[in-house]
Amino acid sequence: MEMWSRTVVLLLVTTTVTCTPLINELEPGKDWPPRNSVKQPSDYEKETSTFAEKEEVLPTGNPIEEIDEPEEVVIDASQPILRNADSWERKVDYSGAQVWKVSTERVSVLGVITRLRRRNLISTWGGNHSSIDILVKPNAIANVTRVFQRERIPIDVVIDDLQQRINDENPPLDANEIELQDRRGHRMTWKQYHRIEDIHGFMDYLAKTYPKIVSVNSIGKSHEGRDLKVLRISDGKPTNKAVFIDGGIHAREWISPATVTYFINQFAENFDVETDDIKNIDWYFLPVVNPDGYEYTHQTDRLWRKNKKPTRSARGCVGTDINRNFGYRWGGRGSSANPCSEIYRGSTPFSEPESKALSDFIKNSAANFTAYITYHSYGQYLLYPWGYENAVPADHKDLHDLGNRMAEAIKQTRGSSYQVGSSSGLLYPASGGSDDWAKSQGIKYSYTIELSDTGRYGFILPTSFIEPVARESLNGLRVLASQVAKA
Ligand code: ARG
Ligand code: ZN
Repeated sequence: MEMWSRTVVLLLVTTTVTCTPLINELEPGKDWPPRNSVKQPSDYEKETSTFAEKEEVLPTGNPIEEIDEPEEVVIDASQPILRNADSWERKVDYSGAQVWKVSTERVSVLGVITRLRRRNLISTWGGNHSSIDILVKPNAIANVTRVFQRERIPIDVVIDDLQQRINDENPPLDANEIELQDRRGHRMTWKQYHRIEDIHGFMDYLAKTYPKIVSVNSIGKSHEGRDLKVLRISDGKPTNKAVFIDGGIHAREWISPATVTYFINQFAENFDVETDDIKNIDWYFLPVVNPDGYEYTHQTDRLWRKNKKPTRSARGCVGTDINRNFGYRWGGRGSSANPCSEIYRGSTPFSEPESKALSDFIKNSAANFTAYITYHSYGQYLLYPWGYENAVPADHKDLHDLGNRMAEAIKQTRGSSYQVGSSSGLLYPASGGSDDWAKSQGIKYSYTIELSDTGRYGFILPTSFIEPVARESLNGLRVLASQVAKA
């Protein structure tokens, strides 16, 4: 059965092969040709069965696994908890909300946290084996404090007024910067978090300015109709390997698109003087996978995570976690069937236009993808598969070794420490992630990078961090490039 269906897939693919030229024979500005080999059949489950056979299963036992809630529970965990029910257009106000770091050394803590979340008194931010960051609603602070005191659980107030931090995070540019902006032909800076319009304008500007090496294509549209713009940087050498980099899968992780656009700027503006490693790679960048969510975090709710597509939820909950919607081992641990959950997986694998477009693009591209990196925040982790379960792929030593070398280069820049490991092992199991899917497609070096910080500012990282975070990340990326270029 297995052999037979494989043959059918091969036959189907073989018969639909057209005589598309190799991607690198084309001018960068021309259409990007689709894949023309049978190397990666579209049926990802069949393609990936070889990984499943070879992988090494490790003992489980991560205490931080998010406990799934039944569909349509009474508590609405995904709606902005401070939202004004009457006006979705008005900005969500986080005045008086706090972020606490809670030690999870004591096992009872997780039960307490789950109960508080169910009662809608808190929501969870980041977390690992030893601690978890929680957002405490203003009118729940006294109550939640009492609960933790009674249980003798130590807490550390990291942010004492979240709205204050949000107000201070992204101040307008000064007059000098605005004048510079006007002279440059695009509005992008790395001194501010920009709207999608500025990011897209910047990408188009580079394609126009450097048509020999830079091109931009929209690979699809978000639910609300925004372009999913991919920028390619390539000198067109037929021997080039390819690397796919994305950001902004989660709307509120603003440092991610800022970092990815920094890479784009560095490579495009300085291509001639870049290293051979950089020049020997075809780079594909999708800086904002979730443009609807991203715009919503600028306009309405700074802490929105999911996309903005309505669900079939009876209570009108909106949005799917794009990083639980990819089609490898979809629906497993660390994802939720409840449309109101922050980790809602969607109704089916690839039910969301954003994950569908990304995966279709990679599957159908003729580029020789050797690495996939998706940038998130926060926590400072270099994570490799698997995410769906506490297991690692057969070549995990290669992934770990390269991860260590990238972390070392990051550290050399200005001392930042990144932890390296499998995402299920270091964080918690979470199925349906883009990294697992990319690995399942045979892309060897697949990583999720959780950028800065480690929790002092969390998602609300001030703009003064953009440049240093992006610069150290670029040094990490250079190490990956040297590995890919020689692979
Ligand atoms: N913070 C990310 C998330 O929760 C980590 C993803 C790691 N990858 C994975 N497949 N679980 O989405
Ligand atoms: Zn994320």
